[in-house]
This record gives sequence, C-alpha cells and structure tokens, in this order.
Amino acid sequence: MVKTRQPVGRAELLAQARSALATGQSVLLRGPAGVGKSTVLDALALRPRAAVVLRSAAAEAEAELPYLGLIDLLDGASEAAFGTLPEHLRAAIDGALLRTALPETPYDQLAVRLAVLELLRALAADRSVLLIVDDLQWIDEPSAEVLRFVARRLEGTSIRLLAAERFAGDADPSRADLCPQPCVQLTVSPLSESDVVDLLRERFGGSVTRRDAQRIYRASRGNPLYVTELGRALRARTTPVAPMEPLPVPDKLRALLSARIATLPESERPILLLTAAAARPSVALLERCGVSVGRGLEAVRTGMLVVEPDGAIRFTHPLLCEMVYADAPAPERASAHERLAEVATDPVERSRHLAAARDAPDETLARSLAEAADAARLRGAPAAAA
Ligand SMILES: Nc1ncnc2c1ncn2[C@@H]1O[C@H](COP(=O)(O)OP(=O)(O)O)[C@@H](O)[C@H]1O
Ligand SMILES: [Mg+2]
Repeated sequence: MVKTRQPVGRAELLAQARSALATGQSVLLRGPAGVGKSTVLDALALRPRAAVVLRSAAAEAEAELPYLGLIDLLDGASEAAFGTLPEHLRAAIDGALLRTALPETPYDQLAVRLAVLELLRALAADRSVLLIVDDLQWIDEPSAEVLRFVARRLEGTSIRLLAAERFAGDADPSRADLCPQPCVQLTVSPLSESDVVDLLRERFGGSVTRRDAQRIYRASRGNPLYVTELGRALRARTTPVAPMEPLPVPDKLRALLSARIATLPESERPILLLTAAAARPSVALLERCGVSVGRGLEAVRTGMLVVEPDGAIRFTHPLLCEMVYADAPAPERASAHERLAEVATDPVERSRHLAAARDAPDETLARSLAEAADAARLRGAPAAAA
C-alpha cells in the first residue's frame, strides 16, 4: 500500500537513509514493533532512485515455508532476466520458486544460490537495483541463506538492500548479515513529545487535548503504534477523562490491541483467525475454508484488516495478527489450521498447518508472542545498535 503522507518526525532519518542509498550503501532499519519501521520503509520506497525495485514483506506465519521470501521478492523480476540464466540454473530457480512443477530430483541448494546471484547480476547489468525487504526477521531460513550467499558476492554491482528488522533488545538475533556491504544500520527511535502531538493531531484532528496528548506520550513512550491505539481508545470514550483520572485504557500495547480485537463482532472471528494462521491469506483462500468475506467488515472499517484489490488480506500491523492468534482459544486455533491444511496445495504448508493443528494447546507459542508484544512496549526506547 502506498502512503503519500509524510511520516511525522522522520526527516532526519529519511535523509540519512536516502543519502546512504544514493552513495551505493545498503540500509537496515531496526527497532521494536510499532516504532514506525514500515512507515519509513514505505516513504523511502515512494521515491526509490533505482531503476528496478523488488520488494517483499515477510510474515511470521510464513517463516517456515521454504523460499516464500524469495518467491515474493523475485516476483517482480523480468522474464528476460530469468531467460539469461543457463539451463541448469534456470531449472533450479524455477523449481525452488515454484515457477514450474516440483522437480523430480531434489534441487541443488548451490544451484539455487548461484541462480539468484546470476539473476540479480543480470538485472543490474545496466541498471541500479534496489531490494526492499520488510520484517527481515521473519524471512524463511532457506531464502535467508540464499540472500546471505548473494550478499557476500555483490561487490561492484549496483544492487542495494533496504530492509527493516524488528529488534527489541540486545538479545535479539539480527539478520544484518543478509545486507550487502557497505551497509548502514539505522535505529528507528521513538517519537519526541512534539512529534506525538503532531501525530495525534494528524490522526484525530482537534479531538485530543494537549493534556491527553501529554498523557499519551508518557504512556506510549513515543511508540507511534501505541500512540495511535491510545488516541483511538480515548476517542471511543463518550465521557472526557478527568485531569487526575488515569487513562481509561490498558497500559500495555498488547492488552490495548486485544481489547480492540474483542470489540469486533463474533461473526468476524473466523475471518480474523484464519487470516492470522494462513501464510498467504486471501478472500479466495478463506472462501475455500468455508468462510465468506463479505463487504462491510467491521475489522476493515475500523482499520484492523485490509482487503487488497487483488483479494489478498492482511492485518494493518503484525502485532494485531499476533494478538488474534495468541488470544484465540486453542481448539479454535487447531480447527483453523485443520481447515487451512485441507485447502493447502503446497505440501510444506499443509504439513505446517497439520503440525500446528495437532499441537494445538501450544501455550509456549502464545506466551512468547505475548512476551514479544510486551517487550515492544517496554522497550519503546531505541534498541542499542548492534
Ligand atoms: N512517523 C510516523 N508518522 C505517522 N504515523 C506513523 C509514523 N510511524 C508510525 N506510524 C503509524 O504507527 C503505526 C505503526 O507503524 P509501523 O511503521 O507499522 O511500525 P513497525 O513497522 O515498526 O512495526 C502505523 O499505524 C503507522 O501508520
Ligand atoms: Mg512493520
């Protein structure tokens, strides 16, 4: 989705990133959930200054599906570029990216790596190429291995990577090694108080008072997702908040998102859960699962889900997806995976759903998702640069 609005308070960060890209460097944006990485990425993607832009956004649900990240990323590569590959590399990449039927013999990982490298070199032969990957932390490991291999061999080409990675603390592993060198790592920091005021004004007009804005700033510690959710919750109140009264909303981003999800009609729950559990949710996929995605969804109206013109469905923020999944009762999660397994055409995807369905009361996963969301709030401060 292309947003034309300029992000609030990011002029300096955008300038740093643009100048790095303009001088042939790759850029890795890092920060906790909701701090505004995708927003900065979108703003940079709007005026990319590259002849060829290939873009993908990884999702947590697809992290176990091999090569899905590359399928997405290379979807925009021209057929002509594929045509330049020698036959055995072409066969390997076509098999790996499911461009042809599955090969009969196992495909050779090295051939896939070489094929992607050659493909990118062909694309960059006479033009500049920018690869954009959002949520780098979720790219499936096979795709990551290919990108890692390729990154070390791109010196002297005009190929750069612009990526965003969720990073909440020093203990988080980083995929910075997927970035071709030289690469600039930029921390996406929380917004300042005056930026928070601007953001609230932009979203909610004059309905948020200065005092409320200050409280929202303090509660959110400048995390824009938290800011907009608090603003929304405040606006939904019919009576104003008295000066000494605490903000009438949960003090954790995770709890706030759960509360918002809980306001949706019961009838939309299957849509939300199937969307959260699927790797590539779409209107057609949900229909195959026996759920119709009618017009006028409350989840769409309230800005939680987006149905793209091509029928793809996505949450407006991955934390919403995580909370829908984490909050669903285990039997409902199992039955969603069961249904998705029935309609999946890709065997890997089917087995992933089956495993998830059989393994339903997975408190560990729910807990770790919840902890991740909590950590995002707690660590609204910029992550230490690695
Ligand atoms: N600088 C900004 N100006 C205006 N809105 C922002 C800004 N940064 C983030 N937001 C809003 O906050 C929410 C979370 O931002 P997002 O970019 O999705 O965060 P992240 O990718 O780091 O999780 C989105 O609704 C986005 O529109
Ligand atoms: Mg994001």
